[in-house]
Amino acid sequence: MPAGEHEFVVVANRLPVDISVAQDGSLSWQRSPGGLVTALAPIMQKNDGAWVGWSGQADFSHEPFDGEGMRLWPVALSEEEIASYYEGFSNGTLWPLYHDVIVAPEFHRTWWNAYVSVNRRFAAAAAEAAAPGGTVWVHDYQLQLVPAVLRLLRPDVKIGFFNHIPFPPVEIFGQLPWRRQVVEGLLGADLVGFQRPGDAANFLRAVRRLTDLKVQGPQVTIPGRWSRPDRAVRAQAFPISIDAASFDSLARTPEVLARAKEIRKELGSPEVLLLGVDRLDYTKGIRHRLKAFGELLEDGQLRVPEASMIQVASPSRERVEQYRQLRDEVEVTVGRINGDFGTLGRAAVHYLHHSYPMEEMAALYRAADVMLVTSLRDGMNLVAKEYVAARSDLGGALVLSEFTGAADELTQALQINPHDIDGTKATIMRAIGMDAKEGRRRMRSLRRRVLEHDVQRWADDFLGYLAMSVPSPMSVATPMSVPSPQEVR
Ligand code: F6P
Repeated sequence: MPAGEHEFVVVANRLPVDISVAQDGSLSWQRSPGGLVTALAPIMQKNDGAWVGWSGQADFSHEPFDGEGMRLWPVALSEEEIASYYEGFSNGTLWPLYHDVIVAPEFHRTWWNAYVSVNRRFAAAAAEAAAPGGTVWVHDYQLQLVPAVLRLLRPDVKIGFFNHIPFPPVEIFGQLPWRRQVVEGLLGADLVGFQRPGDAANFLRAVRRLTDLKVQGPQVTIPGRWSRPDRAVRAQAFPISIDAASFDSLARTPEVLARAKEIRKELGSPEVLLLGVDRLDYTKGIRHRLKAFGELLEDGQLRVPEASMIQVASPSRERVEQYRQLRDEVEVTVGRINGDFGTLGRAAVHYLHHSYPMEEMAALYRAADVMLVTSLRDGMNLVAKEYVAARSDLGGALVLSEFTGAADELTQALQINPHDIDGTKATIMRAIGMDAKEGRRRMRSLRRRVLEHDVQRWADDFLGYLAMSVPSPMSVATPMSVPSPQEVR
């Protein structure tokens, strides 16, 4: 395959921009918020980078174009592929399987076929974009077959893969009918990055259990063929973070501070303001959090209007059935709590089914006394890190589920098992009653960690390790075991 011209190529399910097409066919776009694009923008600019991804719209097909200091390379998905590859295999099979089967994953061969063919399309686009000997960084569970397919197409490039979500224990992963193909897809990379050491260990155990390959420490050896040398694949944790310094400065601006005051006033100046911020996803433990808060009101440990809670639940994957059900359940629960405990003009829970700009998020973080992160399973949870980055005043307390990746690093948060409702209630009360000195000490230590280990450091670490890997063309696990859709019956 002829090489392209980009020294550095990112491949992710979504492009880092929201695109609009005017009636005359001209394009405009806006950078979507997110740490990944912020961290990679300087590397993109320096290395003539390209970003391969889906526009988020059905049947959007367009030549690569320049924007945001990089080449944006759209991959088209049809309505049918959005249903089977994105909503189906990615979010109806892999997402629940990789998050402790909180809801039951569905296994459909038609979804798998679509996943294979869309992964091939992404790999072909990356192969066309990458310069000879360039570096390609593939992101997340939607694209786990891309490394192996890309290696076949372009054995000269270095390939990194980073999994943003957990990697499950092999006892759960093993349910997947196409488990071996997924492992072999990932082994096409030179470096496979995970959020936590436990995720990397789960992956290495899956390699041991499902292949005959040699695994030593963090390294898998792929035997060379036809007198070619062996190839090493490294699997390791690289916990992702946020653009902490920018978030810190944003949260210090007079506008954000004034807005934070205004929010508290609009809520009737409660003594205690609790906050939850999540995508509306069943992994986030929103129902557990509401249950704990509802019981605290019922027990009389908290009372409206002295205590109030804001729950921001941004819309997500709304055409997937489990997400629809969750929305109904959350909204019924919020309605019940407000009906039982609200007073005229003062709700117990302020439920907001919207996404907000970063400025408003920063103001909410500054306004809240206690931040509640109660995920049942979460790759990292960047909201916890944003809250910490926003609290330069050393105020506020973070209640954090031990089932988040962030819990490994944010050891000074008040950690909970969200399934333990009594324990969660007790920890919320402890956060509310925490002595100011202890609160400041904890927040200082949390901030040190978040500000030092930011998303730039994460990207530099990952790419530093990837640069050290020695490319050894053509050694793929067993490339032909990533089958064509026709081969799967
Ligand atoms: O954390 C996993 C992830 O898929 C991210 O890559 C993405 O930003 C987020 O969840 C939202 O998912 P989606 O792209 O399905 O809206």
